[in-house]
Amino acid sequence: MGKYKLSPSILAADFGNLAAQIKEAEREGAPYIHMDVMDGVFVPNISFGVPVISSLRSVSECFYDVHLMITQPEKYIKKFCQIGADGVTFHLEATKDVDKCFELIESCGKKKGISISPDTPVSALSDEMLERADMILIMTVHPGFGGQTYIESSTDKIKELKRRLKDLKLDRDIEVDGGITRENVEVVLNAGANVIVMGSSVFKGDIGDNVRFFNKLFKKYEK
Ligand code: DX5
Ligand code: ZN
Repeated sequence: MGKYKLSPSILAADFGNLAAQIKEAEREGAPYIHMDVMDGVFVPNISFGVPVISSLRSVSECFYDVHLMITQPEKYIKKFCQIGADGVTFHLEATKDVDKCFELIESCGKKKGISISPDTPVSALSDEMLERADMILIMTVHPGFGGQTYIESSTDKIKELKRRLKDLKLDRDIEVDGGITRENVEVVLNAGANVIVMGSSVFKGDIGDNVRFFNKLFKKYEK
């Protein structure tokens, strides 16, 4: 697997055909599948949770990139690890116990992600957090809904994070999520992001055509 990864968000998929659409994305070359869990408390929307992800585990071998937009993620992290998440990302704003969240993911042997929303500065992430995480997710829209517009000020946050990681000599994945399209994807790639979440830009329209388009572009950045 290369450094640049497309992570299609099933929030924009046809929920009546989830299994088939995930299979299609995988067949066309998507290495990750992004799964947005929302509790109606941390964000003003409810999506899906454990039973849905659990049922979807057997349909693909993609890396299941589970994004928890829930309060007190420490209560549920283990469960998501057990039912098929390959990586779990929690929000810094959603927990009082970041260490515990990392510890729970670590104890299950899964990849640890930490996320910040648009109003949270990169400086809220301590050096220790950056060291402990495998991936840092910079939200590029306010979490809760697909199909929003990319928040321009996110670009500087990606660059700032990239600089911090370089100064700390840390090699970590930088994920971006929200409002990424064919038109602006190179902005986030040039800023330093390498795991790119896309809901609408993959599932609204021809899935195969979209996955191939982004994978071809990422190949240029691998060099
Ligand atoms: C938003 C979710 C995103 C969303 C992205 O809260 O975290 O993953 O599905 O959707 P698009 O790519 O349509 O903005
Ligand atoms: Zn997400």
